[in-house]
Amino acid sequence: MSCLDPHSFFDTDQPLARRLSLKLVIDFERKIIDGAVVLHFGSPVDGLMDLDTKGLTLRSVRSSGGALIPFELGDDVPVLGRRLRLHLPVGTREVAIDYQTSPEAVALQWLTPAQTEGGRHPFVFSQCQAIHARTMVPLQDTPRARVTYEAEVTVPEPLAAVMSAGPKGTRPGPRPGTRAFLFEMPQPIPPYLLALAVGDLQSRDLSPRSRVWAEPATVEKAAWEFAGIEEMITRAEGLFGRYEWDRYDMLVLPPSFPYGGMENPRMTFLTPTLLAGDRSLVDVVAHELAHSWTGNLVTNATMDHFWLNEGSTVWAERRILEALHGAEAAVLGWAIGQRALDTEFERFGAGSPLTRLRTDLRGVDPDDAFSSIPYEKGSRFLALIERTAGRERFDRFIRDYIARFRFTSITSEEFITFLEEKLPGVAAEVHSDSWLYEPGMPANAPVFRSERLEELTALAGRWAGGARPSKEQVSGWKPSEMLIYLQHLPRLMDPASCEWLDRVLGLTGRGNYEILVEWLTIAAGSDYEPVFGRVREVLTRVGRMKYLRPLYKALGNQPRTRALAREIFAKAGPGYHGVARRVVESVMEKYSGEASR
Ligand code: BES
Ligand code: ZN
Repeated sequence: MSCLDPHSFFDTDQPLARRLSLKLVIDFERKIIDGAVVLHFGSPVDGLMDLDTKGLTLRSVRSSGGALIPFELGDDVPVLGRRLRLHLPVGTREVAIDYQTSPEAVALQWLTPAQTEGGRHPFVFSQCQAIHARTMVPLQDTPRARVTYEAEVTVPEPLAAVMSAGPKGTRPGPRPGTRAFLFEMPQPIPPYLLALAVGDLQSRDLSPRSRVWAEPATVEKAAWEFAGIEEMITRAEGLFGRYEWDRYDMLVLPPSFPYGGMENPRMTFLTPTLLAGDRSLVDVVAHELAHSWTGNLVTNATMDHFWLNEGSTVWAERRILEALHGAEAAVLGWAIGQRALDTEFERFGAGSPLTRLRTDLRGVDPDDAFSSIPYEKGSRFLALIERTAGRERFDRFIRDYIARFRFTSITSEEFITFLEEKLPGVAAEVHSDSWLYEPGMPANAPVFRSERLEELTALAGRWAGGARPSKEQVSGWKPSEMLIYLQHLPRLMDPASCEWLDRVLGLTGRGNYEILVEWLTIAAGSDYEPVFGRVREVLTRVGRMKYLRPLYKALGNQPRTRALAREIFAKAGPGYHGVARRVVESVMEKYSGEASR
């Protein structure tokens, strides 16, 4: 027996399911999915087979002939869930499992009509990365166990369903007032890329291979914001090779979506906070698009190699940005990332094992280990290799890497072996072992500089000495420049300084959430009362963890803002995604001062 993934019961010696046929009936009243899945093996198999499940109620397990297959459901193991052990008779080609999800399934967030833009219909969406697919479907929930799938999703009219798959039309549902949406995903994907959303959705075509889905109230705004997608895809193809997934569609979710974006193949999921009205936040789309190569084609073998997914995607995202908007824009991207990296080293401590690229997450919930380290340290590791090898050689390496490992899931060690094969000596030259296996930031980390960046950080650095930009100066700043300036200002400001900043930079009314939240973090953390209303508004509407964490943390600074945080959380908390709620709770547990309730 060999289990390679600390987050799965998958056993490499056992039969491997190659394809899933899903029938999912969405029940908004009970907040459950009535599910039936057929696991196809492709050839006859037999013996033991262990599946991952969490919170699932099993009704039956049958062979294709309809005979019951014996199964045992193990005890609930923290993080992993319950092992479902099947005893497959000789000659088994497929197994059919009837089951039901739990209303607490972590993969699913069920929204009331009030939590949507339109306010009239419920909404449900999935988020399976890293190990939540098992709360939606019983399966081998490890990235090595790639599957193709087909699905039939029954939803109440007039709602629509989208999936990380190609749409295959609709037909009347089994009961009156329902409609079934059909899907086919011909390419093998790791289970964490299974994705589903159901709601009052409309779409707008952006190019022959791309459209955006959103609620009717946001779909026009979304179509405008992401109108440049085809050029982005074309640029990415120039860098990484042909786009292999046929369509690149996007779905803008309701604001409680806990991430900026999720690279579900053929259907990237996006937070509505990207709709800044000026196309200034499309770097997140560049990131999710880049996952089409790094992550979705070449996948991390387990969450211990997560940097392979995210580090290479951040690197790729910044290369796309450079191709579209020039080297200066990319340098600003690296600088914004550096801030995130510094914050994480502060949070964990530079000696923490969680700051290694190659982690050991046995017994650790990937959601608890999540941080910017694999993103920003990982991308810097690749940028160092790029600088060491030279851009031309490295670009060829990346294309070879994708071509060699496409549709497979690999480890950090396999990456290094391939690096050594294609660019001999480079791994040793960059000290790859210390990058992968040691905590903290290696001394040879690449530095990204530009004149513009120096100007902005120097100006912010002279704040305490009285330096202030003029209104005219500020009006010429791009959003990313404004963000960098704010990031380099002191964290604690007196009320007069806050007032000046808000008046001259026009911050509290911003539609760009990166700038808005950076500002609110300074102002709320400085106990500046005029922004409290806006803070309440943001924390009540938006469930994106990237914003919840710094805002709730800043509110911990003063007794008055701690009270505000508790009041807001009491009201808004139930509307957050379960994973986001846990993050906020962990931030608030660290509040000092008067005992928390
Ligand atoms: N795949 C991640 C999101 C994720 C990672 C969800 C791990 C669950 C577990 C996605 O591609 C991502 O990185 N999103 C970022 C975007 C940013 C780096 C541009 C986000 O949500 O902020
Ligand atoms: Zn990512």
